[in-house]
Amino acid sequence: MILTPQTRRLRLFGAIAALAVVAAYIHILPRWGGSPYGYARGYYEGVASYFHGPNSVYNNTLYTEGMEGVVDQYYNSSNPCADFPDTDGILLVMKTGATEAFDRVPTQLLTTMRCLPDFLLFSDMEQQIGSYHVYDALAEFEESAKAHNSDFDLYRDQKECPVSQKSCIDARSDNTQKAWNLDRYKFLPMMEQTWRMRPGRDWYIFTEADTYVFWANMVQWLRKHSGINPRERVYLGSRSFIGGTPFAHGGSGYVISGSLLKHLIEYHPGVVEQYNIKGANECCGDLMLAQALEEYEHVKIRQSWPLFNGEKPSTLPYGPGHWCEPILTMHHMNAEEISSVWQFEQTRKTDRPLMIRDLYYAFMAPKMQIQRSDWDNLSDDVCYLNPDPEAQQRAEGFERDRQKKESEMSDIEKDAWKSWENCAKVCESEIPEDDELELGMLGRSDDDDPAKASDTNAAEDTSPSDRSAREARKKTMDERKKNRECFQYRWHKEVCCTSKSFKLGAPKSKPESDYKKHRWMSGWHLKGINDWIDVMGDCKTPAWKQPER
Ligand SMILES: *[C@@H]1O[C@H](CO)[C@@H](O)[C@H](O)[C@H]1NC(C)=O
Ligand SMILES: *[C@@H]1O[C@H](CO)[C@@H](O)[C@H](O)[C@H]1NC(C)=O
Ligand SMILES: *[C@@H]1O[C@H](CO)[C@@H](O)[C@H](O)[C@H]1NC(C)=O
Repeated sequence: MILTPQTRRLRLFGAIAALAVVAAYIHILPRWGGSPYGYARGYYEGVASYFHGPNSVYNNTLYTEGMEGVVDQYYNSSNPCADFPDTDGILLVMKTGATEAFDRVPTQLLTTMRCLPDFLLFSDMEQQIGSYHVYDALAEFEESAKAHNSDFDLYRDQKECPVSQKSCIDARSDNTQKAWNLDRYKFLPMMEQTWRMRPGRDWYIFTEADTYVFWANMVQWLRKHSGINPRERVYLGSRSFIGGTPFAHGGSGYVISGSLLKHLIEYHPGVVEQYNIKGANECCGDLMLAQALEEYEHVKIRQSWPLFNGEKPSTLPYGPGHWCEPILTMHHMNAEEISSVWQFEQTRKTDRPLMIRDLYYAFMAPKMQIQRSDWDNLSDDVCYLNPDPEAQQRAEGFERDRQKKESEMSDIEKDAWKSWENCAKVCESEIPEDDELELGMLGRSDDDDPAKASDTNAAEDTSPSDRSAREARKKTMDERKKNRECFQYRWHKEVCCTSKSFKLGAPKSKPESDYKKHRWMSGWHLKGINDWIDVMGDCKTPAWKQPER
């Protein structure tokens, strides 16, 4: 059959129309049934295969030497939400600011948030990011309270900006401070709007645009390990203090139960306005929220650190207390870091709860080396300074305060300030090599080569009393390895500081003059770190924590 151009066109139209009907059906269908939260996820899964072909499988850029056992070689990005938990009854509320929203939020939307069926975005200006609406938390702020308050200059200027916010920001210098000054006013109005727009959820998770949430852990903890019922009025997070008042640090993320939010907003209609006025005299919004919860609800933050965490993979103090603990949030995450951690979550070889040590294996272990020049921010638990009064005066206050007493120092510690090489010896000397050697000899004659053991000192080795002595010594040695207090050092301007945990830190710029003395040297005692890790073993049961009372 030969088709005329018209018939062909008609057929094409018919096909397009049929496709459109199917697409509309798929689009509408899930809204009709199921829970109000479930539909978006179902919808996503339903249409995902139309957007992603079988080719969305890539080399996993995290799969580097030593990572073979940790992550998959390939990153199959075709079904990113397959292992995402069911967040029914849990709402994410993210706060940002117009000066940063476009730098930070898009990566959040591309990663964890693409699997959330619902969330709210608040800022200090109404904006639209793709198909996502950003609400102005300050829209209903009383005119009289804003009018003569210079903290609101930025709020007014932003609205006047005739081009993109970024262009206006680049032309002003004091934006970070101004954005910070404005930020504190958003917290309580945001509570009110959240309750109005999305009432009745079990849990509300409040984060900032540079907070990363580990959703699998978060949901599992809230439902199972926290031991808390959302009908209780609770406020959970990482505790900080200002002027003696405890509050949940905003950037680390915090959780408010539905019943607490309901009480605060419905039963105390004046609270938001009162705190809007109070804002002019307070430093921070997260503190004001704690004050409001205490004043009106008599609810104090329940400490849930290190689950809620203010650090990120390169600054986490790995070591005692930061190892078998699962992690729920991280802070100061830039776009690249958010994407990497998401990729790690997506390509991990296991579905065990993600513990802090897993971040060590993924992001620190592959980068470990003995030392790095022009590198810092690691070590400041214990410091060693030149005792000369003038040198003491030159040092930073915290360095002076963290010195060991002269009388408690070994000879190596007394010389540590003189050079980075000397500084490096402090950690090495914590467990002298001789002690290890002695134990090593005892250990070796035991299991490595029974034949050899029998011709050296067989009689001794097999006697039960000797074996128990050996075991006792190994136990003592393991205790010492486990209780190690020096894992790494930093040396700069004749100040040597060491650290009780191990962290990666960040680069420092090269000094302009006197490179040898002014540069930042950092180093890690790899043997001490690896011994500590060995003694810690497998973390068979994750160290979930319940919020403190
Ligand atoms: C994946 O990695 C291999 C080497 O490991 C390389 O030969 C290949 O070109 C990479 N593929 C892509 C798509 O980048
Ligand atoms: C990637 O994941 C999709 C969906 O889970 C699956 O159908 C596909 O077979 C996977 N591809 C590869 C190469 O593993
Ligand atoms: C290093 O630590 C100081 C004080 O703890 C902090 O102010 C600074 O931002 C840190 N620098 C980096 C690069 O993390």
